[in-house]
Amino acid sequence: MQVQTVPTQPIEGQLPGTSGLRKKVTVFQVSGYLENFVQSVFDALPGVAGSTLVLGGDGRFFNDVAIQTILRMAAANGVAKVLVGRGGILSTPALSDLIRQRGAFGGLVLSASHNPGGPDGDFGIKYNIGNGGPAPEKLTGAIHQRTLAIDRYLTIAGADIDLGRLGATTLGAMQVEIIDPVDSYARLMQRLFDFDRIRALLARPGFRICFDAMHAVTGPYAHAILEAQLGAPAGSVINGVPLPDFGGGHPDPNPTYADELISRMFGADATDFGAASDGDGDRNMIVGRKFIVTPSDSLAVLAANATLVPGYAAGLKGVARSMPTSGAVDRVAEVLGIPCYETPTGWKFFGNLLDAGMCTLCGEESAGTGSDHVREKDGLWAVLFWLNILAVRGASVEQIVREHWRRYGRNIYSRHDYEGVDAAVAQQIVADLRAALPTLPGRVVAGLTIRRADDFGYTDPVDGSVSRGQGLRVFFDDGSRIVLRLSGTGTEGATLRLYLERFEPDAARHGIDTQAALQPLLDAAEILSGLRARSGRDRPTVIT
Ligand code: G1P
Ligand code: ZN
Repeated sequence: MQVQTVPTQPIEGQLPGTSGLRKKVTVFQVSGYLENFVQSVFDALPGVAGSTLVLGGDGRFFNDVAIQTILRMAAANGVAKVLVGRGGILSTPALSDLIRQRGAFGGLVLSASHNPGGPDGDFGIKYNIGNGGPAPEKLTGAIHQRTLAIDRYLTIAGADIDLGRLGATTLGAMQVEIIDPVDSYARLMQRLFDFDRIRALLARPGFRICFDAMHAVTGPYAHAILEAQLGAPAGSVINGVPLPDFGGGHPDPNPTYADELISRMFGADATDFGAASDGDGDRNMIVGRKFIVTPSDSLAVLAANATLVPGYAAGLKGVARSMPTSGAVDRVAEVLGIPCYETPTGWKFFGNLLDAGMCTLCGEESAGTGSDHVREKDGLWAVLFWLNILAVRGASVEQIVREHWRRYGRNIYSRHDYEGVDAAVAQQIVADLRAALPTLPGRVVAGLTIRRADDFGYTDPVDGSVSRGQGLRVFFDDGSRIVLRLSGTGTEGATLRLYLERFEPDAARHGIDTQAALQPLLDAAEILSGLRARSGRDRPTVIT
């Protein structure tokens, strides 16, 4: 089939951020937009000709169209083979696993993660490298540079590939293999977790679970693994059919957006264990009966109990958390005598540590938890990890967390998001606080004395690369802190994130209400930044 060279020109705003290129579907539908980005990826990748790539997405609107476009362009660019999940479906962690298992050159993930989908929703694309993880900044920078200079893309004419039929086919000279999206991932989970024990737990009389796939990509994975392989009764997985618009929902597993699961877990029909995942299956929320586990605590609990799970029985090499994530896991690392790394927000910073064998578990406060089994965070993995721990310990979710707090103390923690703030206003709020940082130590605000304030910077211990400006931090004398940063993943206006954390060593006070306990920090944040007054908001859009 003949390669067509299509003239094109640079389109503004194709800078891939921490999570790849993420824009409104309507932007991606502009002729040349997707093509420019994909061609820029191919142009920035020496060695892509003759290679094997993995391709799939979370099934959101435009997923199928994008896959056909990318396949034609891959064929025109001389790619030897593309593995595609049936129906165009691959969760982000499953794609990461496939790159690794099949020794692929890399892969393209089609998703806007937890952002809403549909014709008016978001779409996204990112490139993952041969270790299975997101492209490092050097490569995303090269891709971006290429989008600024691009003048042609390559494609071929050809009929659409039938994505529904498993097996091998060809497109021009390129092989296309449609694979089951779940198989390899499920085998990986079987190697890590004690499926027999989890099966026995799920068979215990009266023990029930509820997994909310939020009409996103984990539906097929959860049906296959939790129900078919582990024996959870049909109906344990809810909203299990991926839909192009996620059923109109916002597929982000937090107490606000996963309200169906939350009302169930707090109602008369509460199950013993509840969980949800996001659009592309890399995030997780863990819920007990009338009890929500914060992601920071979840990471700490997994670390503290890791040796109960076959895949981690030998112990952890180290742990890592993003800077805004609470310090709960630090306390576990200290007891275990293993290193704990504090990285900037975004999963890619964990990749180097995992590749270098410096850490085994990592996580973020934004409901991302993972390990060295892949190079992405992994929602269903976290669910299975929890089920394995519950099966071994025979305690409830709440008992496990409360016992953890008694042993290690509790990092009381909350994140307040102000979404859709005027971008200029949001940037000014951050700029003003940044400018004031050197004047803060010693000042007393809302009854709290400021000990130290900085803009978080990180030097990668593996490659020495430096990332600056990763979030404003204000530390107080009592060990509490606030963090303010601008989101890098929103697509409308700006999202300001305010993170509040206070350590409470006294087990007897563990009943206290989180938001009430953090009120002084909230007051301090307002005095220091004028966030609410200046953004015109009297409350956050989302509290997690
Ligand atoms: C958000 C989360 C961050 C996560 C990223 C991608 O980024 O806060 O932890 O890695 O999504 O899932 P943000 O919008 O804060 O830049
Ligand atoms: Zn995601």
